[in-house]
Amino acid sequence: MALENKLGLTDSAELAREEERISKKRARELFENGMLDRLEAGRLSSLKAIHKYLFDDIYDFAGELRTVNISKGNFRFAPRMYLEAALESIEKMPQSTFDEIVEKYVEMNIAHPFREGNGRSTRIWLDLIFKAELNAVVDWSKVDKDDYLLAMERSPVRDIEIKHILRAALTYEVDSREVYMKGIDHSYYYEGYTTFKTEEL
Ligand SMILES: Nc1ncnc2c1ncn2[C@@H]1O[C@H](COP(=O)(O)OP(=O)(O)O)[C@@H](O)[C@H]1O
Ligand SMILES: [Mg+2]
Repeated sequence: MALENKLGLTDSAELAREEERISKKRARELFENGMLDRLEAGRLSSLKAIHKYLFDDIYDFAGELRTVNISKGNFRFAPRMYLEAALESIEKMPQSTFDEIVEKYVEMNIAHPFREGNGRSTRIWLDLIFKAELNAVVDWSKVDKDDYLLAMERSPVRDIEIKHILRAALTYEVDSREVYMKGIDHSYYYEGYTTFKTEEL
């Protein structure tokens, strides 16, 4: 069954396809209309604005915190009960060095603020921090999808793999649309399947 959506789609494969097409179009607009440049790097409000922009045509919950507990594989993301508190402390985490930025990103991934679309919106949010603080961004075309996902699965216990992968892919080509778009590219990173809703705790 597909996640409830504004498009009225009930087939999850069809939803995945439409979601990819629309969110990519919106991501390109976000980059081209200058809105990204006006967002404050590292703030929760910026991540919400990115998510809202990408998914507003698709989900009622675009830009809104999830209302349920969710998990992927064996990993349970932050319990809904503690989500606001977690986000408040993540927002305050320092972000002036490469290591600090990745650590903040890892914590934001553990929080997983939205019901869906965390990967795509949080990678754009990450690049915004890299750009503001280090004048660099990730060239996602240099990151292997499987390596990335394995590293993200490992990241709650050990962040050395994701740090290694991201460091090797940093580029000073901060204004390249191609480099930016790869971060949300379906064939590279987008997971066509959804996070699972877990039972209420
Ligand atoms: N087992 C896991 N543990 C921790 N993080 C994970 C795990 N699996 C995937 N992730 C992270 O979650 C993201 C997917 O979250 P999701 O909300 O489905 O976003 P999207 O729909 O944009 O792909 C992945 O890109 C990755 O960063
Ligand atoms: Mg998903």
